[in-house]
Amino acid sequence: DAPSPAAVALPADWDNLRAEVAACQRCRLCETRTQTVFARGNPQARWLFVGEAPGEQEDLQGLPFVGPAGKLLDNMLAALGLDREQDVYIANVLKCRPPRNRNPQGDEILACQPYLRQQIAWQQPAVIVALGRFAAQTLLDTEASIGSLRSKVHEYAGVPLVVSYHPAYLLRTLPDKAKAWQDLLFAREVMRRQG
Ligand code: URA
Repeated sequence: DAPSPAAVALPADWDNLRAEVAACQRCRLCETRTQTVFARGNPQARWLFVGEAPGEQEDLQGLPFVGPAGKLLDNMLAALGLDREQDVYIANVLKCRPPRNRNPQGDEILACQPYLRQQIAWQQPAVIVALGRFAAQTLLDTEASIGSLRSKVHEYAGVPLVVSYHPAYLLRTLPDKAKAWQDLLFAREVMRRQG
């Protein structure tokens, strides 16, 4: 069984956390990954985007959102006037690719959760954008649908959190792109209210 998140003692700085993730064997995904995917961008940014898990390209390159879904995310960030290296930090719920991009399993999410929790605690973003069902449901500890979670300000560890669609879903469901754009504008408003 995976230990509960609270039971895990984590390293005291980014370099050591990154190294610990790179060597992680806390769940079965360590057996099939090429490498772990820690995060991308600026860990001092005011925006944090949280996705689901590395896909094929991410697993090969060791960076989140570098495949087709990442291109869409980059375009949306650019449209908001955000530089993807300077203005945002991007991480996933899972640091390892599930085989054939299957859905994350509950015990995998539980095993990996302390890493994201620590990343958020250190970054202290002004707003978190949860991209897709797994990010939203994990961070909010709910089974509610994306549709019912959108357009509201939630909270994770004292940080305002906004929910939107996953870019990979948007690639398959173009009409919802406009809603995702509304979500980003809403997130920007929430962030501005933080001062
Ligand atoms: N989808 C995700 O959720 N995260 C990535 O890093 C890539 C695709």
